[in-house]
Amino acid sequence: MNDIESFSALAAAVGAPARIRHARLLAWVRDIAALTQPDRIEWSDGSDAEYARLCDLMVAAGTLHRLDAVKRPNSFLARSDPKDVARVENRTFICSEREEDAGPTNNWVAPAAMHATLTGLFAGSMRGRTMYVVPFSMGPIGSPIAHIGIEITDSPYVVVNMKLMTRMGLAVYDVLGTDGPFVPCVHSVGAPLVDGAADVAWPCNPDHKYIVHFPESREIWSYGSGYGGNALLGKKCLALRIASVMGRDEGWLAEHMLILGIRSPGGEKRYVAAAFPSACGKTNLAMLIPPAGFEGWKVTTIGDDIAWIKPAADGSLHAINPEAGYFGVAPGTSYESNPNAMETLRANVIFTNVALTDDNDVWWEGMTRTPPAHLVDWQGNDWVPGCGRPAAHPNARFTVAATQCPSLDPEWNNPAGVPIAAFVFGARRSDTVPLVTQARSWAEGVYKAATMGSETTAAAAGKVGEVRRDPFAMLPFCGYHIGDYFGHWLRMGSAVDAPPEIFSVNWFRKDADGRFVWPGFGQNMRVLKWIVERCAGRAEAVETALGLVPRYDDLDWSGIEFDADRFREVMRIDRTQWEHEIALHDALFAKLGARRPEALVGERERLRRQISM
Ligand code: GTP
Ligand code: SPV
Ligand code: MN
Repeated sequence: MNDIESFSALAAAVGAPARIRHARLLAWVRDIAALTQPDRIEWSDGSDAEYARLCDLMVAAGTLHRLDAVKRPNSFLARSDPKDVARVENRTFICSEREEDAGPTNNWVAPAAMHATLTGLFAGSMRGRTMYVVPFSMGPIGSPIAHIGIEITDSPYVVVNMKLMTRMGLAVYDVLGTDGPFVPCVHSVGAPLVDGAADVAWPCNPDHKYIVHFPESREIWSYGSGYGGNALLGKKCLALRIASVMGRDEGWLAEHMLILGIRSPGGEKRYVAAAFPSACGKTNLAMLIPPAGFEGWKVTTIGDDIAWIKPAADGSLHAINPEAGYFGVAPGTSYESNPNAMETLRANVIFTNVALTDDNDVWWEGMTRTPPAHLVDWQGNDWVPGCGRPAAHPNARFTVAATQCPSLDPEWNNPAGVPIAAFVFGARRSDTVPLVTQARSWAEGVYKAATMGSETTAAAAGKVGEVRRDPFAMLPFCGYHIGDYFGHWLRMGSAVDAPPEIFSVNWFRKDADGRFVWPGFGQNMRVLKWIVERCAGRAEAVETALGLVPRYDDLDWSGIEFDADRFREVMRIDRTQWEHEIALHDALFAKLGARRPEALVGERERLRRQISM
């Protein structure tokens, strides 16, 4: 057989659309089908018609519930298995050839051993199901900074979510041509239907979950979960864990950051990229509406979760949002806290694990001040106020296309990205960390980000509210040794002529009664304004042990009563708390061994000295 004949035979064997000319891709699909044994292969085209058909199919299967056509047009509610509600960090693996390359913050298994495990798990795992082949681009299709992935999945819920979250469609195959690079992503819910067994609404595997990355061969395999970052493999798996490795090798950054634009009343526009751990306020900040007193200011949204940042010819760092949608935390989202998100959610939304109202709409904790008198909770049970259970799961989420966001920045689709003036690092800390500080140097900024600690949230399975080190908000997402990652960040500061200024923020400081001292949400604009004015060389600051800080009069208080005493409370640097904090930095550094950058050790010693002064 000649090449053309064998290609045709291969394409025919897997039923591939004529548009695909990529033999390696077809052979991979054939091999995965042979392993997983689905009933059929379906080549997703990313069309609206396909989306509608799959949603109908899932309504019939009980996976999706169609919401009221007037209150929430073209929108659905999914209820997951209660054992499948968040990312599973302890089941997430980085399988580099050498254990030391995965580093102390990742779970590691040797690639050969993991491949053997996965082969066993995936053998026959799609029996009785349809295998979907989902082509997607992270970043604008055909852009030189975009990367292509193909996700094979047996979950139609994943297919429709990928349509909202990525640029998904057959045009991806044109970019790939006959041999273009793509990241192969294999996903199975791990629940084969054997001998005609009936399906359940949310299939998953209760006993075995594996979220696996091979950084050298740049492959992703995910088994046993259908939820969020475990299953939508373009997001955390490709755009953060695999992309962070690409960035290390190629001189760029893949970060857990929102990107926003700020325009002053005078028309000056600046972009800020900000990293916060999961469920710590990225979506809220990215969609911020300036409060009373900030007339003429406007905040626009480029992205709410992930940024790819590259040195540009103009001597600055440029960022793109590789995603095309939001998979955002529902609880706490309201017309008070985030009106832009609420507007984004008016139609064409997939809600997962929120509560259902009696008039066939959705509700979650914090959406309104008074809950409805009756709901069906996220597990499908009757719910009344005061019953002692949350109506929505704390990690309930919405999936929605970015184009529905009223504050979407006109440049959001620009393949060249936007220039970043400031990096902001924030975490959830009841104490210790002040409202805002500015690093005096790139190295000090990297130190602040590297040693960040944050209280854990419901975004990951496990204990909530425990302070853990979460360097750069990337603890669960860095695909290689975290010490090397710090080194890469240190080097990136000199990769451009004008590196961004680096700031640290904390919206979550609490008073003695356990109440947030800082009003947060739209009021964060006051801090953002100071940040961009600092970048422009206009706002004032004074020096402290933690870097440069605003005095009370350096922030714009128009439109709010927030007195100097409360400001002092939210800015307080407590020596005892910081001595304890530095001991935790020491513990992190101790884990890094020889891969601990010396520049950071120097920063720590300086901090230790200045705190004790
Ligand atoms: P992922 O999507 O998990 O990466 O998270 P995210 O950082 O985008 O989280 P999101 O913006 O959805 O944060 C949700 C939680 O943060 C909710 O509980 C909000 O109430 C809370 N939150 C956001 N902004 C603020 C703020 O300024 N102050 C306070 N106190 N809480 C906030
Ligand atoms: C996060 O947990 O940081 C998320 C949600 O953005 S998920 O995609 O599930 O990881
Ligand atoms: Mn996230």
